Formats: sequence, structure tokens, C-alpha cells
Amino acid sequence: MTRLIFLGIESSCDDSAAAVLRQDGDGPPEILSSVVEGQTKLHAAFGGVVPEIAARAHAERLDGCVEQALELAGISLAEVDGIAVTSGPGLIGGVLSGVMLAKGLAAGSGKPLIGVNHLAGHALTPRLTDATPFPYLMLLASGGHCQFLITHAADRFQRLGGTIDDAPGEAFDKTAKLLGLPQPGGPSVEAEASLGEPDRFHFPRPLLDRPGCDLSFSGLKTALLRARDALVAQKGGITVQDRRDLCAGFQQAVADVLAEKTRRAIALYLALEPAEPVLAVAGGVAANGKIRALLETVCAKSGITFIAPPLRLCTDNAAMIAWAGIERFRAGINDADDLVARPRWPLDATASPMIGSGKKGAKA
Ligand code: KG4
Ligand code: ZN
Repeated sequence: MTRLIFLGIESSCDDSAAAVLRQDGDGPPEILSSVVEGQTKLHAAFGGVVPEIAARAHAERLDGCVEQALELAGISLAEVDGIAVTSGPGLIGGVLSGVMLAKGLAAGSGKPLIGVNHLAGHALTPRLTDATPFPYLMLLASGGHCQFLITHAADRFQRLGGTIDDAPGEAFDKTAKLLGLPQPGGPSVEAEASLGEPDRFHFPRPLLDRPGCDLSFSGLKTALLRARDALVAQKGGITVQDRRDLCAGFQQAVADVLAEKTRRAIALYLALEPAEPVLAVAGGVAANGKIRALLETVCAKSGITFIAPPLRLCTDNAAMIAWAGIERFRAGINDADDLVARPRWPLDATASPMIGSGKKGAKA
């Protein structure tokens, strides 16, 4: 095993990102630089990510991110051993910006080019941060994704279930919007919820009555809208305490559903008899204290280790793409000749396709 230095590029949603990663042999990987330029302000007025604006912003900024990442890492493109780029799934204009840039850099420098599935980037992060051995269970929960996966190898993922409509982060964002709280909704709803009474309003626990690990969050948002409107009809508006209680009830419902579905996913995973069982989380929703605490309890009760990578590596970034690139490269994969941008790209091609598409574009 040799030393590898990889450049990673990510542009599948609303973060333009580049990173440089080094791994000496099979030692712990080192993030030499990780640059993330968010676009929240560009989309703020529209209540969601506007694909054309995102694509234009990536095209304008991505090369600057790469330059900055190389400079911060103190290396030149000539010293890099390979270039990894998110080639799907995501908003196609953004993915294309990244793929075209990476192809140009690879062609100009003669370096290997590796296409990375964005979700594989998230799913392999526990190996970047904690050297987690295969197979491990993964919960991806963000504004655009929600799924349970067993990661068997760098290119083999088994999807146990996922959302059939909204992602949980999207539900937090919509809840914040309905209650006049700032975006992103997750942190603002969580802050309000910490001052509220979770049992005052009863929100549904969608799909708990059905077997399996699929989830649904859009009905929860509708229930919240109805509860808010009922208060407005009764009293002409909602009080500060009403808002806190609504947030607390909503958050508890999301946490309960995620916890129960996680229990079921763990049972399926443990049937594989992994030597060192692990549940790892990724995505912005993993930042939620209540949800994280419940998942930790579920893991402790099942006797499995709970891993939550640091938040900057849980949310979209290019270090995870560089890392997935290194893992794929070490497995002998080089996509230079036929890399295409893919708006949809399920990690597990054998799992039934998901319906619906969230604020951040197509779900895989
Ligand atoms: O992973 P991420 O940064 O981006 C993608 O969606 O890909 O996740 C952002 C999502 C947003 O929907 C945000 O509201 C949610 O994660 N989020 C949270 C919290 N912090 C961020 N949701 C619940 N509680 C939080 N503390
Ligand atoms: Zn993501």
C-alpha cells in the first residue's frame, strides 16, 4: 500500500467544495484541506435551492475552491495522485460543473479520475473518521436524503429502507417556514423545541404501523400546519409558547420514528453477525441533540457502537469525496474514459426505486 494524495470535488447540491486528502499506506487518512462555499444566501429569497442559480454559482466558484484547497494543503496539482469528483446523484447542472472541471484537470495533468456517488461519500465517512470496519449500518438523514444502508464494501451498499416522500431535514425546514422561524430550520426548530412541551400536541408517527424501514415525513408537516391553523382559528394567532410546544411535538415525532425504524434496521443488520457492529450517522439532521440521544440509547440497548462523525464531515463536503475516491482507487477503479454526470444514481441498484423528490432535487 502506497501513499496517496487525492483531490476531491463536490457540487451536487448547494455547496461548492474541494478538499485534499492524504493516506500513507493503510494508516489514518489526513485531511490536508477542506474548502466549503455554501450558497444559502443566494437561494434564501426563494425558499429552496434553485437549480439554475446553484449551477451557475458552482461554475463560477468551483475552480477557486480547488485552487484554495491545493494552496491550503501546500501542494500542486502535479503532486496529486488522483482526482475524485461527485458524478451524481444531485442537481444535474451542479454535478456537470464538477464533472467537467474534474475531467479538464485530469486530462491536463494526466491524473486518474474517479467518479464518486455522493451518497457513497456520506456512507464511507465513518471509515475516514473512525476506520470503521465493514459491514456497518448507516443512517443518512439530511435535507435531501434519508435512508438506512448496510455498507459492505467501498462499492457495495445494501439499502434497507428510506423516505417515500420528504427527507427529515426538509420537514424541519418546512416546519420552520410554517412557524416563521429562520432557515435552516433544523437548528431553529430544535432551539424552540428545547423550551416546549412535547406532549401537548399529538403528531402522527408515520409508517410505524407498516413493517420495514421505510419512512415518511410529509404527513407530519401537514399535521403541523393543521395544528397551527386550528390555533389561529381559535385565538387569532399563536403565542410564543404555542410555537415552542408545536416544535417540541414535531421534533419528538421525528425522533420517535427515526428511533423505531433504526431499531428495525439494526435487527436486519445484526442478522449478518458483524464482528464489530456499528451504527453510523451522517447528514445535518444528525446534529439534532434529541435525535442523536435517542439513537445512542437505541444502539446502547442493542449492544452496538454509535458513531457520529464531526458535523463538518456529516454535512456536504469534498473530503468525503476524496476519501471515497481513494477507497475506489485502491479497489482498482479508474473512470477517466467514461465518466458521466448522473442526476439519479441509487447506491443499491437492486432496491426498489423511491418516489418523490425533495427541495434539494431528486432522491436516490
Ligand atoms: O447534510 P446537510 O447539511 O445538507 C443536505 O441536506 O445535503 O443537511 C442540512 C439539513 C437541513 O435540512 C437542516 O435543517 C437539517 O439538516 N439540520 C437539522 C439540524 N441541523 C441541521 N435538523 C434537525 N436538527 C438540527 N439541529
Ligand atoms: Zn449530502
